[in-house]
Amino acid sequence: MNTSAHELQFDARGRLRHLITLAGIERGRLDALLDRAEAMRRDSREGTRPLDLLAGRTAINLFFEPSTRTRTSFDLAAQRLGAQVINFDIARSSTVKGETLLDTIHTLEAMHCDAFVVRHQEAGTPAYIARHLRTRAAVLNAGDGNHAHPTQGLLDALTLRRRFTDLSALRVVICGDIQHSRVARSDVHALQTLGVRDLRLCAPPGLLPDSDSPAATVEFPQCRVFHNFDEAIEGCNVAIMLRLQKERMDAAAIPSAADYFARYGLSATRLARANADCVVMHPGPINRKMEIADDVADGPRSLILEQVANGVYVRMAVLAELLQTA
Ligand code: NCD
Repeated sequence: MNTSAHELQFDARGRLRHLITLAGIERGRLDALLDRAEAMRRDSREGTRPLDLLAGRTAINLFFEPSTRTRTSFDLAAQRLGAQVINFDIARSSTVKGETLLDTIHTLEAMHCDAFVVRHQEAGTPAYIARHLRTRAAVLNAGDGNHAHPTQGLLDALTLRRRFTDLSALRVVICGDIQHSRVARSDVHALQTLGVRDLRLCAPPGLLPDSDSPAATVEFPQCRVFHNFDEAIEGCNVAIMLRLQKERMDAAAIPSAADYFARYGLSATRLARANADCVVMHPGPINRKMEIADDVADGPRSLILEQVANGVYVRMAVLAELLQTA
């Protein structure tokens, strides 16, 4: 029988070996990772300590889907820890000649590498790779289909932890294309583990299972489902906006930008319904004027670039955790 993605992440001594999903990772371990990211942030900014923890190690970025933030920040994170990074060029590799994914992985393993950072359009690919490795390499999920994006969940948690002292008191809304969003799933895992109780999910009916459907109960336990954003954002301290993932939708199901913005976009007027301290987040890339108005994305409540900055520190922490030999 296959072990679950969660079990697969740990070695025989209970240490984190891969990072595939945040589901089931307990609070203590999550806090420790975030503390480590915080220390990476401090050390990087002060420039006091040389960060050579991963000197002599090799990380390979294997991105089967486009990426700006995640790939660059994994690359920078590994380099800032002294590791060597290979950005595997899939379009110019033998995968276009029909080489299978596993043959590609075993070929790269034979050249010796310590970590595979994997983004793939199909949910389950990082776990599949982790199950078939022949070496001690670590697999880091950089986003698989709509399943999980654990480092995004961690960086969003770090961003909120730096802003608010008590996460358990927060009212958080995640709004947009929940159906296709691995970010929503990993954010829900991270935030609930860290104690957020009032977690709201808001999306057009076709992009979010109803609260009482089995799909929603299993995937999003203890979340309140909304289809009306004006109601959902009422009194919120945090609004996490998501991109409409057109690449995962039938062309016919894609709403017009104006119609979508009117119902589910974050304008300054709508933001005024939230709590006065409400911060605005978005994992990027943003579809401006569709999910979020320019003055909100670039305004004083926006933590969008803070999320990007924290992404590097979180990925440094995760790489250090998985690759350091004790
Ligand atoms: C997200 C992703 O790829 O899952 N972006 C990211 O990693 N920052 C969200 C998206 O593509 O909409």
